[in-house]
Amino acid sequence: MASLEIITKSDKETKKLGEKLAKEIAISHKPYAARRKAYGLRRAFVISLDGELGAGKTTFTQGFAKGLGIKETPKSPTFVIMRIYKLNKSNRSDKIVEFENFIHIDAYRITSKDLKSLGWNELVSGQQNIILIEWGDRVKNILPKNALRIIFKHGHSGSRLIKIMQ
Ligand SMILES: Nc1ncnc2c1ncn2[C@@H]1O[C@H](COP(=O)(O)OP(=O)(O)OP(=O)(O)O)[C@@H](O)[C@H]1O
Ligand SMILES: [Mg+2]
Repeated sequence: MASLEIITKSDKETKKLGEKLAKEIAISHKPYAARRKAYGLRRAFVISLDGELGAGKTTFTQGFAKGLGIKETPKSPTFVIMRIYKLNKSNRSDKIVEFENFIHIDAYRITSKDLKSLGWNELVSGQQNIILIEWGDRVKNILPKNALRIIFKHGHSGSRLIKIMQ
């Protein structure tokens, strides 16, 4: 499987990467537009954030939310499990037309069964939803097979190795 590897040297760089990817996905960048099409009409766009503890998944998510035009800064949802951000007119840049909800989930302390009882099937069947799920690996049996996967690792002196699986 092809992948794209990026090294970030600070949390700021990780946020920037998240912001850039969000824009590419939301503003119909070609590879992602094709991927969206392949998802079929009634599927959410799902991104699984995996890898080591404290390696930057939430930090990346903060940049991603910014890229979607969300004004609030997502906090780690570990204790909340899931947060839904509306991408309504006041929260959304005009160029971003495809998605209505940004959903941030942290699966660190939950199982697939828990996620299902939180309404996963419904969330994932809405094409208006874009979902980032930290520790998605833990519930991968219920993720769409073609979910985008991003793996985070610690590097030397505060750097992070971020691998986007294509
Ligand atoms: N290059 C970097 N990229 C991202 N975060 C960095 C980087 N360098 C330092 N940091 C710091 O590392 C921490 C990363 O924490 P973050 O909560 O984003 O990780 P996480 O993968 O979500 O953790 P968890 O596994 O607990 O969910 C933050 O405090 C951030 O400021
Ligand atoms: Mg986190």
